[in-house]
Amino acid sequence: MSLNKMTAWSIAGLVAMALAAPVLAQGDMLSGADAIARRQELMTTIGGTMRSAGGATGDARLAAAQTIVDSFAEVGMAFPEDSQEGDTKALPAIWTDQGGFMQAYTTAVTAAADLLAAAESGDEAAWGLAFKDLGAACGNCHTQYRAN
Ligand code: HEC
Repeated sequence: MSLNKMTAWSIAGLVAMALAAPVLAQGDMLSGADAIARRQELMTTIGGTMRSAGGATGDARLAAAQTIVDSFAEVGMAFPEDSQEGDTKALPAIWTDQGGFMQAYTTAVTAAADLLAAAESGDEAAWGLAFKDLGAACGNCHTQYRAN
C-alpha cells in the first residue's frame, strides 16, 4: 500500500470513529446474529420501559426516559447490512428503503428526546404529548419495517 493510500484510509477511519464515538461508547459495533440479538434486546427494554414509564413520576420517570433515549441511540447501530437473515422479524425494506427507515428511526429518536425533556421539566402536558408521539413512532416503524 502506498503512503498516500494509507493516509487516506487512516483519515477515513478517524472520521468514522469520531462520528460513531457517542453511540459506540454504549456498546461495540455489532454484526450478523449479534446485531439481531442486541436489537431485539434493546427493543424489549424499550417496550418494557415504555410500559413502566406510563405510570411513573419524578426520578423514576426521568430514569425511564433516559433508558429509552440511550436504547434508541444504540438501536441505530444494530441494523448492519449483514443482519438481514436469521432469527429476525426485520423486513428487507429496512435495507432497500434506507431513507424511509432512517426517517422512521429519527422520528422515534426525536420523540424520545422530547420525552426526556418533558421528564426534566416536569411539564405534564408535554410528557403526555411526547409519550403519545413516541407510541405512534413505534407503530409507524413496525408497520413498515417489521414482520408481524
Ligand atoms: C425505526 C424502526 C423502529 C422503531 C422506531 C421501533 N421499533 Fe421496535 N422493532 C423494529 C424492528 C425492525 C424489530 C424487529 C427486530 C428483529 O427481529 O430483528 C422490532 C422489534 C420490537 C420488539 C420485539 C423484540 C423481540 O424480542 O423480538 C419490541 C417489543 C419492540 N420492537 C418495541 C418497540 C417500542 C415499544 C418502540 C417505540 C418506543 C419501538 N419498538 C420502536 C423497529 C422499530
